[in-house]
Amino acid sequence: MDTVEQVGQVKIIRRDSLSGILPNLQSLLELCYPKPPKDVFYRVLEQYKTGFPVYAAVRKEEEIIGFAYLCPNSKGGTLETLAVHPDFQGLRVGSKIVEEILKKHLGVIQITTRVPIFFEKLGFKQVFTLPDGSHFMICPNFEV
Ligand SMILES: CC(C)(COP(=O)(O)OP(=O)(O)OC[C@H]1O[C@@H](n2cnc3c(N)ncnc32)[C@H](O)[C@@H]1OP(=O)(O)O)[C@@H](O)C(=O)NCCC(=O)NCCS
Repeated sequence: MDTVEQVGQVKIIRRDSLSGILPNLQSLLELCYPKPPKDVFYRVLEQYKTGFPVYAAVRKEEEIIGFAYLCPNSKGGTLETLAVHPDFQGLRVGSKIVEEILKKHLGVIQITTRVPIFFEKLGFKQVFTLPDGSHFMICPNFEV
């Protein structure tokens, strides 16, 4: 486990598996995604594969207050399941997680999201709007 960034009392750590964080992750995702379909935690369990980079924001005694993972592909990857605990939203924890992912993973980073303004501030561009109203966005993330 690497600590990659420190934001006040919050550390951003990177792992290559979900082992050890599952109970904490379930409660975090249920708090962050309260509306239907409410199955975000179970979708992570189905879709996450060991080795995919996991980024977590942790505070005292390893309590997880932020999470995202990257599903890699040959040209970059898809950022999945970004979530920040409601008590810690607005403190740049979500931005720090995304910035760490962009720092560590070059290529075209994709996201499908309902919060396009948040991602635009981090360099993502909208490509199109899906029929369900969510936004497909990309961040061309290359060394200059
Ligand atoms: C969206 C989310 C990850 C943002 O994390 P956060 O740590 O609260 O955001 P930050 O403090 O880093 O915000 C950075 C900037 O984005 C803006 N922002 C944050 N959430 C926003 C939202 N929902 N809509 C519009 N702008 C938003 C902030 O106002 C801030 O703007 P500023 O730089 O001009 O001050 C968090 O609110 C969350 O987990 N929400 C519930 C789950 C969710 O919607 N996840 C995203 C799915 S892809």
